[in-house]
Amino acid sequence: MTFIKDYYVTEQLDLRVFRTQKDHSYFVLKKQESKDSIEIKSLQKLKHKKIVELKDVIKNKHFLRTEIYAVLENIPWLNLRELKSRKNITEKSILKLGYNLADVLCYIHSQGFIYNDLKPDNIMMLEWCDNIKLIDFESCVSIKEDKGSYLMSTPGYSCMQLSTPFAFSNDVFSLGTVLFFGKYNESPYLKHTNDDVLKYMSNERKYLLRGPAQKFEGETKLAEMINAMIEPIHINRPIISEVKTFFEDLI
Ligand SMILES: Nc1ncnc2c1ncn2[C@@H]1O[C@H](COP(=O)(O)OP(=O)(O)O)[C@@H](O)[C@H]1O
Ligand SMILES: [Mg+2]
Repeated sequence: MTFIKDYYVTEQLDLRVFRTQKDHSYFVLKKQESKDSIEIKSLQKLKHKKIVELKDVIKNKHFLRTEIYAVLENIPWLNLRELKSRKNITEKSILKLGYNLADVLCYIHSQGFIYNDLKPDNIMMLEWCDNIKLIDFESCVSIKEDKGSYLMSTPGYSCMQLSTPFAFSNDVFSLGTVLFFGKYNESPYLKHTNDDVLKYMSNERKYLLRGPAQKFEGETKLAEMINAMIEPIHINRPIISEVKTFFEDLI
């Protein structure tokens, strides 16, 4: 039997993430760099029903070292990547997913944070996209405290490789790529992601402004909206409140 402090480990979910049990309830423990890691600091401020709840921060003595864990609510759902590998998502569900994500991102932006790592693995959801919870706040930045930080998020879902500045519109971009993934099972940028990243690093930015390898197909308003969100040039993207209103009117 493995224990992390008083929490009995029932399952390892990821490298540093464990499902545990204590007093007949389930919790998820995620190992942190320090007691004031970005994830802990962000989750202490951000409280929303579509954001994983931080319940506690604990210290665990492991041999001579002290490990820090965030105690999170257990979300007994699948993440979007797992859900997609089991079943298809209808266009109606994509609209609901769009609304739910825009709603929580609106809240995050209103609190002065940029989430910065929106991707299928970080979105826990119920089967028909009726409910979602965002997890993984390791890349979240507060515009007050971290202005100008250099970030490198996940290729394909983040627009960092497109050399756009540090901005709220990064999350709009990622939301577009996630909805694209909902339909096509991949990011619109994934086909040239490796080149993107390498060329970004070597500063050949012209190449990057060519835009996604694919567009969301269809003559509908939905396709128009998603293609605007994944625009490489950030000033051409809608802002998150516009995205929320758009989906609110359609669901
Ligand atoms: N609170 C939670 N409830 C249930 N599953 C979780 C929870 N937190 C994380 N997971 C699972 O663990 C995986 C990795 O967690 P995440 O916080 O994204 O860590 P990483 O920083 O390693 O990406 C997620 O994709 C999800 O499947
Ligand atoms: Mg993650």
